[in-house]
Amino acid sequence: MQGGGGGGGAAAAVVVDSSSSSSKDGRATARSFVPVKLVVRPALLFAVLATGFLAATALLLFVVGGGAGAGAVSYYRLPTLAVPNVLLATPSCAEEEKEVEVERWWARPAARSAWHNMSDEELLWAASFEPRRRGAPRRPKVAFMFLTRGPLPLAPLWERFFNATGGKDLFSVYVHTTPGYRLHFPPSSPFHRRQVPSKATRWGDVNIVDAERRLLANALLDLGNERFILLSESCIPLHPLPVVHAYLTRSHHSFVGAFDDPSRLGRGRYRIGLAPAVSLSQWRKGPQWFELDRHLAIFAIADEQYYQRFREACLAPCYVDEHYLPTVLTIKMPSRIANRSVTWVDWSRGGSHPASFGVGDVGEEFLAGLVRKKGEKERCMYNGKPTGLCFLFARKFAPSALQPLLELSNKILEY
Ligand SMILES: *[C@@H]1O[C@H](CO)[C@@H](O)[C@H](O)[C@H]1NC(C)=O
Ligand SMILES: *[C@@H]1O[C@H](CO)[C@@H](O)[C@H](O)[C@H]1NC(C)=O
Ligand SMILES: *[C@@H]1O[C@H](CO)[C@@H](O)[C@H](O)[C@H]1NC(C)=O
Repeated sequence: MQGGGGGGGAAAAVVVDSSSSSSKDGRATARSFVPVKLVVRPALLFAVLATGFLAATALLLFVVGGGAGAGAVSYYRLPTLAVPNVLLATPSCAEEEKEVEVERWWARPAARSAWHNMSDEELLWAASFEPRRRGAPRRPKVAFMFLTRGPLPLAPLWERFFNATGGKDLFSVYVHTTPGYRLHFPPSSPFHRRQVPSKATRWGDVNIVDAERRLLANALLDLGNERFILLSESCIPLHPLPVVHAYLTRSHHSFVGAFDDPSRLGRGRYRIGLAPAVSLSQWRKGPQWFELDRHLAIFAIADEQYYQRFREACLAPCYVDEHYLPTVLTIKMPSRIANRSVTWVDWSRGGSHPASFGVGDVGEEFLAGLVRKKGEKERCMYNGKPTGLCFLFARKFAPSALQPLLELSNKILEY
């Protein structure tokens, strides 16, 4: 399905001129906001732990003293244990919001907003912690991460999808745009204040993978997120939110497409500079639009060993976005990936770009075919068993497809 495609997303048009000025501005703001340098972090950590220790001691005294002793410290006067906000779950985004004063370098995005003032280094660091204990009593969420140039022309369809009954606790949204571009959505929209600090990206350049890592790191800050799906502004959901949520959160594998393509568009892109970390026989290709569980997402943002090599050696026409994750995950954790994508795309027309669908293409037949309600059922593996449900999303849809999609979504897509 994907094999016919040449560059995939990689060969597509330039998204934005890489104006370094805007990202410099971003950094400058971040700098002025950050009151302590990274070197002070251990001291801060120590302070936090010390506060906790004091609190525990005081509480112990209180308990030992039977709570009645004259010298007992009132429970209510105990110092507050300063848990870094960044490690707390983000409240759901639909609720009404109040501006929250952000005073510390580790402070997480102001409540119900994905925005923050962390630099990339701080962000990746803050996101790289992994809960060691399994089975927390909470409902896992799916993080929908949109990598876009700016506008989200299909947002009304997505809003309908996210508006599912009981859906509020099932998802969170993150949007990476061209820097400087501001999305405006009303508070009732799931996209309201879900933009993350962004930098210039260019399809095919390594900075597109930097943007993917930035999205992942932002989504990892919310400990409620368990699955992480990368989407573009031309993607549509093919099934209702509860179906998508169940499919992803119950899967034993992450949906990363990975295959060995012997052609010049596959093995031909291998670079000798990647050896010995990556050999030719380990080289894999796959679509950029991955789906990862939390463990793999943390690996993807924390990995320096391979990523650095890819940065240096995988230069155009070797596209990091189509090779880095498929290759590295195949080497490090082959049994954790499904080797297939959950995002359908049409390569049947040939060429280096997949087919794009507009107002003239989107009809009942076409959509029903996509959700496999008609015709032959495609078979793929899910948790070791064959299933007819292979794709949860589809691309690429032009803005003009919105109207027919809205007209048919209820009947065919069931949302
Ligand atoms: C980021 O920093 C700027 C300038 O220092 C400040 O105005 C803004 O409120 C900060 N935003 C957040 C979300 O902390
Ligand atoms: C969301 O659902 C409610 C009730 O089910 C409905 O009133 C509202 O118009 C819907 N909003 C959107 C954007 O579909
Ligand atoms: C994906 O492929 C790898 C080999 O590249 C294999 O070890 C793994 O079992 C495959 N995953 C599934 C779910 O079949």
